[in-house]
Amino acid sequence: MPSKLIVVSNRIPMGDSSSGGLVVALHDVLARSGGLWVGAHPDTGSDDGTLELVGSEPYRRLAFRLSETDLKNYYLGFSNSVLWPLCHRRGDLVDHQPGFEEAYRAVNRRIALRIAELADPDDLVWVHDYHLLPLAYELRSLGVRNRIGFFLHIPFPALGDLSMLANPEDFAEWISHYNLLGLQTRGDVARCLEMYRADPRAEFLPSGCVRFRDRITSIRSFPIGIDVEGFRAGLLEEEDCPFAQEKPEALIIGVDRLDYTKGLLNRFRAFGRYLETRPEGTRPCFLQIAPPSREKVQAYQDITRELEEISGHINGAYAEIDWTPIRYIHRNVERKSLARLHNMAQACLVTSLADGMNLVAKEFVAAQDPGDPGVLILSRFAGAAEDMTEALQVNPYDVEDIAAAIRQALAMPKLERVARHRACMDVVEDTESSVWAKTFLKVLGKCPLSLTEKLLTPGKDSSGTEEAESDAEVHR
Ligand code: ADP
Ligand code: F6P
Repeated sequence: MPSKLIVVSNRIPMGDSSSGGLVVALHDVLARSGGLWVGAHPDTGSDDGTLELVGSEPYRRLAFRLSETDLKNYYLGFSNSVLWPLCHRRGDLVDHQPGFEEAYRAVNRRIALRIAELADPDDLVWVHDYHLLPLAYELRSLGVRNRIGFFLHIPFPALGDLSMLANPEDFAEWISHYNLLGLQTRGDVARCLEMYRADPRAEFLPSGCVRFRDRITSIRSFPIGIDVEGFRAGLLEEEDCPFAQEKPEALIIGVDRLDYTKGLLNRFRAFGRYLETRPEGTRPCFLQIAPPSREKVQAYQDITRELEEISGHINGAYAEIDWTPIRYIHRNVERKSLARLHNMAQACLVTSLADGMNLVAKEFVAAQDPGDPGVLILSRFAGAAEDMTEALQVNPYDVEDIAAAIRQALAMPKLERVARHRACMDVVEDTESSVWAKTFLKVLGKCPLSLTEKLLTPGKDSSGTEEAESDAEVHR
């Protein structure tokens, strides 16, 4: 029987307009390669062990149901009130509650039971994101010996921040059950290796892999990207211009889930600061699209309120009868409209305080006219900044710095815009989602299945090719 790809993630697309980098990237990948995608059903219900088929095209999607309590403790709780803030350097928002970690482990155990039933011996299992860190540990304890890879879409936590977990040593243990750990950036790999360096149970092999007890894990970066053509297709749709009535003379755009990690407050403040000092008579418009996210978590309710206050305050100070400087849209927008809006904008603001990659940065670049492109203003704390060095990089904690970048972007000569865009576009093309997935799966497919196999071919991967040698070099 030919092997199949089993992708597992908390969220799967349900036919709605999805937001969030993980769903967008994996949909693009599975739509091309086919396979099976297992994830959580958006509606809660009792878990009777069955997986519900939620669609058949263009790949199979199976969903498991979470109870109300699991949703609260596993998803909103341990995943999004402990791991999320911890990985994004917001220790002040980490909220430990009784039952969170227990539910997290129990849900992972239940999902492992389903996957163990579905997986044939040669299948590749690809697990995604922080909701499912212990999944391989659970699968191994059920006897699953398949190659299992994990991709972390968010930043790898700093060593010191791991101490905020009740059992910090779990992280190293959970990861060690994967054959391959994929991270977004070289900076993430460095932080992960730092964790293992500090752990006496870990040993670094000449291949660059980490040996932890009797297990070997390869750790390297695979910067995630977008489906460039797929996203640009939105530009070809024959539709009315979204600004048909009143097209702004200068449009600045921001598109983010409403999350405290995205640096929205300083972004709004910086636009306010720019308005204060802008060239006389100009009427720029800042369009911020920020759909709600994880609304039951207190920190998300707080940021929603603060953002409303600040946008009201700035509009109150600067708006005129026929001009509203900030347009703040608190809902999802169709992806095809996003491409057109990006295309119309002179600048895009990405001001994350911490961010795994940030696909919006790549979407903005992809949507530009290469002959007359807009300028990407990019936080140096977004993973995308590691390679997109020709974006206007800013310190998102410094409002003046962001305001100065807006000024520079709106006044930038065309020649400079074209050159900067070309350099950014090279990165977008090099990291396309299909390349990202292919590279990850190729490396996973070559990972040794067991320690014995590794020791029989020292310095080589299981297939003994030189290529894997150089793969290992990447993450030293
Ligand atoms: P994250 O994964 O933290 O949400 P990313 O920037 O990596 O951040 O990915 C966000 C994805 O969600 C992008 O593909 C973006 O286009 C999409 N998205 C964000 N906001 C919206 C929205 N309002 N409507 C539709 N898609 C959105
Ligand atoms: O890309 C990071 C991520 O946390 C994904 O894991 C997640 O699917 C996405 O952002 C959106 O978050 P949520 O699934 O909680 O709406």
